[in-house]
Amino acid sequence: MKDLLEIKRIYHYYGSAKALEEVNLKIDEKSLDAVIGPNGAGKSTLLRVISGLEEPYRGKIEFQNERIDGLKAYTIAQKGISHCPERRRLFYDMNVEDNIKMGAYLLKDKVRYKKMKNFIYELFPRLKERRKQRAGTLSGGEQQMLAIARAIISNPKLLLLDEPSLGLAPKIKESIFVAIKKIKEEGTTTLLVEQDATLAMDVAENIHILEEGKIEMSGTKEELMKEPRVKEAYLGI
Ligand SMILES: Nc1ncnc2c1ncn2[C@@H]1O[C@H](COP(=O)(O)OP(=O)(O)O)[C@@H](O)[C@H]1O
Ligand SMILES: [Mg+2]
Repeated sequence: MKDLLEIKRIYHYYGSAKALEEVNLKIDEKSLDAVIGPNGAGKSTLLRVISGLEEPYRGKIEFQNERIDGLKAYTIAQKGISHCPERRRLFYDMNVEDNIKMGAYLLKDKVRYKKMKNFIYELFPRLKERRKQRAGTLSGGEQQMLAIARAIISNPKLLLLDEPSLGLAPKIKESIFVAIKKIKEEGTTTLLVEQDATLAMDVAENIHILEEGKIEMSGTKEELMKEPRVKEAYLGI
């Protein structure tokens, strides 16, 4: 399989505090990968350096065999990388439909927009029912659905999802993860970061463990399940 994204020896600092240390990561086209790790491990930073919200201190990021580190976030988005940030960041005074439209600013093709919007409303019927409702009045789960909807309306080549399950009840978490699986099955390569290791390991084909800014282990669920430390630290077994 072809790599869609390749991260080579990335370092990142906030002031003098190290957030990422020699991170290497390859994401195959059409795959669903998850980065798991505790709070403060550098998961959000990793997504932020990929989407250009932070410029990595050192290292290389290649997307479709082209270097993207150092490019502006807007330019990276235009190349097809869509970032769904932690804690959702919606336009709370705007309604559901207008929030989705805001995510489509890169999409010039109206037919495509309609097609994607239909896919989104099939994926999240609740958003369709609430399309005229203000985003700020949605439940936490619905806001997360809307954040994902806004990130995929542009039909990205790579979707970055930052803690989609954060703060949600178990049932809602599960429905969000069912949707993530469907998005992947429709052909969108997805990189997900999560603290909920059990959920992430259930959906992801490849799992990477990030601790204190370093990738400590990578593998399939089956491979990682053989590691006593993973079972103990992440799965509570
Ligand atoms: N804007 C920032 N300024 C200073 N330090 C930050 C900033 N963002 C994150 N950090 C620090 O960088 C480390 C990694 O943070 P983050 O990437 O948010 O981790 P995670 O998403 O895994 O919880 C943490 O120690 C955090 O406190
Ligand atoms: Mg985070």
